[in-house]
Amino acid sequence: MLFSTLLLPLFLSLLSVADAHSHRLNKRLPSPSWHHARDHPVHALFRRDPGDDGQDYPDVGTPEWSSKYPNGPPDVTKMPAGWSNALKAAVSAGKIPNIPVSSSPGNVNPTYPAGHDPNGPEICSSTYKCRGQGEIWDGPDGTFGLGFDDGPLPPSGRLYDFLREHNETPTDFMIGLYILQNSQMFLQAVDDEHDIAVHTWTHPYMTTQTNEQVVAQLGWTMQIIHDSTGGRIPKYWRPPYGDSDNRVRAIAKEIFGLECIIWNQDTEDWSLTTNGTTPQAINASMTHWLTGPKSPGLIILEHELSDQSVQAFIDAYPVIVQNGWKIESVAQLANATNPSAYRNAPGTGDGPVTAGDILAPTPQTTTSATSSSSAT
Ligand SMILES: *[C@@H]1O[C@H](CO)[C@@H](O)[C@H](O)[C@H]1NC(C)=O
Ligand SMILES: *[C@@H]1O[C@H](CO)[C@@H](O)[C@H](O)[C@H]1NC(C)=O
Ligand SMILES: *[C@@H]1O[C@H](CO)[C@@H](O)[C@H](O)[C@H]1NC(C)=O
Ligand SMILES: [Zn+2]
Repeated sequence: MLFSTLLLPLFLSLLSVADAHSHRLNKRLPSPSWHHARDHPVHALFRRDPGDDGQDYPDVGTPEWSSKYPNGPPDVTKMPAGWSNALKAAVSAGKIPNIPVSSSPGNVNPTYPAGHDPNGPEICSSTYKCRGQGEIWDGPDGTFGLGFDDGPLPPSGRLYDFLREHNETPTDFMIGLYILQNSQMFLQAVDDEHDIAVHTWTHPYMTTQTNEQVVAQLGWTMQIIHDSTGGRIPKYWRPPYGDSDNRVRAIAKEIFGLECIIWNQDTEDWSLTTNGTTPQAINASMTHWLTGPKSPGLIILEHELSDQSVQAFIDAYPVIVQNGWKIESVAQLANATNPSAYRNAPGTGDGPVTAGDILAPTPQTTTSATSSSSAT
């Protein structure tokens, strides 16, 4: 009796987990209306549609799923051959500027060797506020861009519940390693139809990374999002600390087709838990921006990093609404013609996928991709 009383709740909770899971597994791309633009370079790097490409995709959150991805900074010798070949081809074609890798010894703003101006046309570092070609820093007039960095994490839950209650869908710039570690939170974001975008695998200053490291940081994050959302290929990324330059942005664009979204205001909410800013200071900045001019539209750097940073957004939300801002996810406002956050979405180009379009599997080394270094 005691035994079965104890086991029943366990059995029921297993049932509800299985239930939630099968519901999620049905969330496939609505083939054949979803497709890649055929001439896009990213076409060759990720497969089209689970179920159509002969691959078996493990259920999100299972050990089989976890074992496919690095559990720390990616080992560049173990990335899929398709990615390193694409890098080699882009370098040979002269598409990746040969500029110095920056250094950031104290984990502060990266610097370049003497003679290389971070704000000049050679480097154009976004850390130094140089805006790269095609980069999105401002929203259209009157819009408030909804976006959060650094999830999925435990504090994301309260944010996602709040957003669902208010019928808002943000863009989440997610850290790949955190998707691996917080898979249920990730699935909530996907179920709530948030736009999932790339915030790298382990959140380094990207300009300090070699070409190969840049490819691995972006590629693995795109891979886990692709494999865990029914085949969606993210179209947008945001560099950690806003740190990018002409070399990094060329790799993101040429190899992976990623468009970059930065921001035009910063609450510094990430420092709420480290005696940096305060809720009062954030309230004052937010009030100033939200009651100020509507041009350009606001893209404010905000984080789903701590309960405090989530609270700062929840406090500001009524003020956003009261001041008449049009609220859109930053991926939606980035391109009014094609508001999809994914590369393989309706409106990307040229007709439906047919059986003949399905790519042969590219060689992949996904079984032992784990580096021995620890996570950041
Ligand atoms: C924040 O400041 C308080 C009071 O000065 C101190 O006790 C605490 O250790 C500080 N916390 C951090 C993370 O620096
Ligand atoms: C600032 O704080 C006041 C008082 O708590 C609150 O009414 C207001 O909504 C807050 N504004 C923002 C932008 O957080
Ligand atoms: C917006 O999307 C359309 C349709 O996919 C595309 O042709 C256009 O180049 C995009 N605009 C920008 C600024 O990326
Ligand atoms: Zn970040």
